[in-house]
Amino acid sequence: MNLAIVGLQWGDEGKGKIVDYLAPDFDINARYQGGSNAGHTVRFEGEKVIFHQVPCGVLNRNTLGVIGGGCVLDPKILLKEIGNLTKYDPAIRERIRISKFCHLIMPYHILIDEIREGTKQAIGTTKKGIGVAYEDKYGRTGLRVGDLYNVESFEDKLRLNISRKNLVLMDVYHAEPLSDSEIFDLYMKYAEELKPMVGDDTRIVHEAINSGKNVLFEGAQGAMLDIDYGTYPYVTSSHTIAGSIGIGLGIPPYTVERVVGVAKAYTTRVGQGPFPTEDSGDLGKLLRESGAEFGSTTGRPRRCGPFDAAVVRYAARISGVKEMILTKLDVLAGLEKLRIAVGYEAGDELDPFAAEHLLPRYIEVPGFKEDISHVRSRKDLPDNALNYIRTIEKETGIRVDHVSVGPERDAVVKM
Ligand code: IMP
Repeated sequence: MNLAIVGLQWGDEGKGKIVDYLAPDFDINARYQGGSNAGHTVRFEGEKVIFHQVPCGVLNRNTLGVIGGGCVLDPKILLKEIGNLTKYDPAIRERIRISKFCHLIMPYHILIDEIREGTKQAIGTTKKGIGVAYEDKYGRTGLRVGDLYNVESFEDKLRLNISRKNLVLMDVYHAEPLSDSEIFDLYMKYAEELKPMVGDDTRIVHEAINSGKNVLFEGAQGAMLDIDYGTYPYVTSSHTIAGSIGIGLGIPPYTVERVVGVAKAYTTRVGQGPFPTEDSGDLGKLLRESGAEFGSTTGRPRRCGPFDAAVVRYAARISGVKEMILTKLDVLAGLEKLRIAVGYEAGDELDPFAAEHLLPRYIEVPGFKEDISHVRSRKDLPDNALNYIRTIEKETGIRVDHVSVGPERDAVVKM
């Protein structure tokens, strides 16, 4: 069975933990979009491990991690991440494959992203150069992992890119120009280090599927950050919905047999942009503190608010999600009443074009007092927690398959 895990909100739904939990049943764990903007957190051997580009199921020693061609790759961050992971498995490099089709994130992408975030163009990015790297990809001027191994042509393309970027840096942003020889030397060093891991993802995943192996597709960010179907322009620069999997790995769409959505038991968003159920008062503050809602890539405080069933209905529809995993339910313990947005004053369905002005229509259900972080069986969940889950199922039309009640791998309740 090939299964995809996708985010149903604005990212940070807890996909990392779920991928790590499911990985033992999969031979391959593949990322297909995004890059170092992602921060997938896993609790392993009592420690918090944050993944940015490496698929986070690789802590399981039988799982091969594939970084697909739809991703953008920052070699500096990747090599640091792999270096940290060798602490848990000294041979981790042997279980990581990087697609030669991945576009490289270059120092000028990061610099321009950072500069733009200080101007009127700011949308609250992670400043990892993601959007600028995807701009070059679609502008057909990008450099790919595979280009690193054709040194002469890489050098020519790099020089051309830097001369263009320096014009922008100096004339538009009044910044210092970059040195092409320094960047060339740096990327040649990265090329050597990456080489044993570089391959053709289309072949690796295709052959695995053909020989009956199981693939777990790991989405980054969430549906509402999708470049086309999210709250544009406050989105990331890749497709975060399930439709992106085939493209991001060079495999046919029908190979994705099941799509499981992950949604937090409340809603969060980091960065600017519309967020209909945002609570800027006590509830938002409480959720941020109890749920430790600070970005794992940037440390920024996340904006928080009640669960929005209309957002999840919309996200589930565009990704073909029929079942979901609800995370961080334990964070809601102690709240007297739990609010769920079931639609908006203007209508029941989410229209991303109108999201800025939507006023949520809430229903309220009783909260639960009990600490549920130790619960591992459905029968031990308090009635009010079960009622909250059932209400979410009713209002989203999506079955809740598992509930996560804490950061540890086993803190999961099967429903
Ligand atoms: P970028 O992907 O760095 O260009 O940022 C664009 C938007 O996506 C910003 O609002 C970011 O906060 C958001 N974003 C990007 N990656 C993540 C993520 O992994 N989790 C949550 N938000 C993200």
